[in-house]
Amino acid sequence: MTPIHGGNLEWAVNLVNCSLSDILDFSASINPLGPCQSAIATIIEGIAQLQNYPNPNYPQFRQAIGNHHHLETDWVLPSNGAAELLTWVAWEAHYLQGVLLPSPCFADYKRALQTFNLPCQFYNLEDLETGLNHSQNFALLINNPHNPTGKLWHQKTLIPYLDQFPLVIVDEAFMDFLSPHEQESLIDVITDYDNLIILRSLTKFYSLPGLRIGYGITNPKRVKKWQKWRDPWSVNTLAMLAGIASLNDHHFQEKTWQWLKPTRAKLAQELTKIEGLKPLESRTNFILVQTKIPSTKLQLELLKQEQILIRDCVSFPELGEQYFRVAVKKDEQNEKLLNGLRKIYDIPTNR
Ligand SMILES: Cc1ncc(COP(=O)(O)O)c(C=O)c1O
Repeated sequence: MTPIHGGNLEWAVNLVNCSLSDILDFSASINPLGPCQSAIATIIEGIAQLQNYPNPNYPQFRQAIGNHHHLETDWVLPSNGAAELLTWVAWEAHYLQGVLLPSPCFADYKRALQTFNLPCQFYNLEDLETGLNHSQNFALLINNPHNPTGKLWHQKTLIPYLDQFPLVIVDEAFMDFLSPHEQESLIDVITDYDNLIILRSLTKFYSLPGLRIGYGITNPKRVKKWQKWRDPWSVNTLAMLAGIASLNDHHFQEKTWQWLKPTRAKLAQELTKIEGLKPLESRTNFILVQTKIPSTKLQLELLKQEQILIRDCVSFPELGEQYFRVAVKKDEQNEKLLNGLRKIYDIPTNR
């Protein structure tokens, strides 16, 4: 089955008959500088604690998240990735008529809503800017920066929706790729709005998708309610320890911000030079690219010829074969991707 998420290496390996480590994966948008050494060291030390259950209130982890965002700890809820909280968002919204989702959007939104038979409707990304008119009793889900386009909306565009909709969920899984003064997080106004839920992930920026760590930020009453709904130990000890170490690793954060901006600009610029490709402007760590060659064909050729995996966009019905998404990786890895694309687009690669 064709994957609906990035990072499906087993699918790629079966297709081209190579080993997992041969694949250069551009399909999952993971920070290539990580995981940070501090997280790895804590995981190794943490093995000694595996004989004990973690404290289901996660006091140290909540303190680390609280310190990171200058929030009281009762506003935050550590989770098994941001994905776990999508399920609770859907249950939270079930008293409403449905949820308004961006088009295109991350596939797990629909998965979570379908679990509780919650209707969904879609809005165009441009309409978020100009104003959404929706009179029904729906929750609004926003993804900022947006996957898969990389678009970022300003706080001032989003804040009015908090007065318009009974429940607003902002998935900020990729927000930490922007440096603090560039972020447009709604965490700044969280204490003013009881109807606001913010989701964050430690998967992408800290390069830990295998551990499953994220958190939600919302008013303390909702945090307590969700804690009663869910498995008390959704975050395992190693994930908790790595989460704390990662959030406290300011050196790693700084290094990532300094690496990303020029590297993304260079990759986008080189993609633009390939006739037949058109990268969209991105504010985060991946780029959506319009392609003249159908994306599934391009994906297969890159896999066969270079063992490079890109994310086709066929599972986003609005995008289909005309787009693919690539993560921004290290310069030398990006150059391999560019060379692979140049070959397929028949452009000289000896530069
Ligand atoms: C927009 C978006 N939100 C949430 C997630 C889930 O992240 P996590 O790995 O923290 O569950 C993803 C993962 O790809 C994503 O793209």
